[in-house]
Amino acid sequence: MRSILVVDDDVAMREMMVSMLEAAGIRAAAAASAQSALEALRDGEFDVVLSDIRMPGKDGLELLGELREIRPETPVVLMTAFGSIDSAVAAMRAGAFDYIPKPFKRDEVLVVLERAFEHRELASENKRLRAAVDQTGSFGDLIGRSPAMREIFALIRRVAENRSSVLITGESGTGKELVARTIHFVGSRRDQPFLPINCTAIPEGLLESELFGHVRGAFTGAVTTKRGLFEKASGGTLFLDEIGDMGLGLQGKILRALQDREIRPVGGTQSVKVDVRIVAATNKDLREEMDAGRFRRDLFYRLNVIPIHIPPLRERPDDIPALVDFFLRRHGRGERRTISRAALDRLLRLPWEGNARELENVIERAIALTDVPEIGIEDLPVPRGESAAVGVGSDALLRGAVQRRLSLHELEELYIAEILKLVSGNKVQAARILGINRRTLYRRGERAALQGKRSVGAVAASAID
Ligand SMILES: Nc1ncnc2c1ncn2[C@@H]1O[C@H](COP(=O)(O)OP(=O)(O)OP(=O)(O)O)[C@@H](O)[C@H]1O
Ligand SMILES: [Mg+2]
Repeated sequence: MRSILVVDDDVAMREMMVSMLEAAGIRAAAAASAQSALEALRDGEFDVVLSDIRMPGKDGLELLGELREIRPETPVVLMTAFGSIDSAVAAMRAGAFDYIPKPFKRDEVLVVLERAFEHRELASENKRLRAAVDQTGSFGDLIGRSPAMREIFALIRRVAENRSSVLITGESGTGKELVARTIHFVGSRRDQPFLPINCTAIPEGLLESELFGHVRGAFTGAVTTKRGLFEKASGGTLFLDEIGDMGLGLQGKILRALQDREIRPVGGTQSVKVDVRIVAATNKDLREEMDAGRFRRDLFYRLNVIPIHIPPLRERPDDIPALVDFFLRRHGRGERRTISRAALDRLLRLPWEGNARELENVIERAIALTDVPEIGIEDLPVPRGESAAVGVGSDALLRGAVQRRLSLHELEELYIAEILKLVSGNKVQAARILGINRRTLYRRGERAALQGKRSVGAVAASAID
């Protein structure tokens, strides 16, 4: 409900204004002086202040001046004496939102106040969106400090207020659903429903009636008429998760719903108008799906109005410390848990095929398995990928190296070559795992490339025999 503080030393005037404003559906409170107005404003929030200019003690202009300091976002409307051009000019110059000459008609006041409320609402909307991205690198529940995530935050902010379709792509566990929720809950539709549906989890026939609803008797078991998610999400957001797994038939129906902004319940003859924002997500490569004829090109273009791609976690290691911190707090159950430098270093170097979800699981498990406040390296699991690729292989290599009596230098080159293989030649990743900078890696890597073949071949051969 909109709220207003009326400031006037004249009691009859105050009471008249308050009852008039309340009748117009505005929550109105009154103050008899600038001083008590300032106190009321310190205690509570009012959207707009309506004040008389001429008052004993501090006058309306002084009140306005102080309010500009402490509540710059609150529009102040001043009531001026009829014909007093001077005070009207002074009011505007001092930063009043507007002025109302006395005596006034009810409708005049309401028109001016309506504009003041609208102004305030717009301003706080913008402020809220800006404040939502705070300096610590989070946006709602979304954590991210990397340039890539910050770009995503900016994009969310821009799209939150409109109703264009959004297509979120990214590997499993990168936070697609979280991004979808953030778009909804920071946007103008946040008071309306956010309804997610996983398109893989439900058989196609059921999915259709789930989405579009059905009329009574549409199929066996349809004993009552049921509204679908498109209708239930009206005014809000429908989140179509794993859209890449939706069958072609249903894709066509979704396309029609998006184009015509109306749907037809299963078994129904009447179309129903719908107003929903669609946010879709997939971890499939939809271009590949289109080339294979499994995804409709026209639907893709309809959905992909605003594409948001979340890069895998291994490509944005800057986000790992903040995520770790966030998950420590989320799963710490009120206890303050920390992580050792060495353990964090290790987390920074892991490949995170399951992205943030895997990181969250690792932290949750470590917290559950240990009582000490600080999580150490021994509390972290050996990731699947590594035990297979490095564990077994390096044992054999190490044994071979010992048999061949390799020098430390030769072993180093061998190890660099192995790590490069593990990360498919990605030097940035290799340098991170090896704990050396990229220049050093290039230098040593080149030598390793020259000599490595020989020694890798030799050791591998000896590991076999
Ligand atoms: N940037 C992030 N900040 C905070 N938490 C995150 C972030 N990214 C992911 N998470 C957390 O990781 C988990 C997985 O996220 P989410 O379910 O959104 O991923 P997804 O991309 O939808 O995965 P899938 O493709 O498997 O459905 C959730 O618990 C989520 O809160
Ligand atoms: Mg998901």
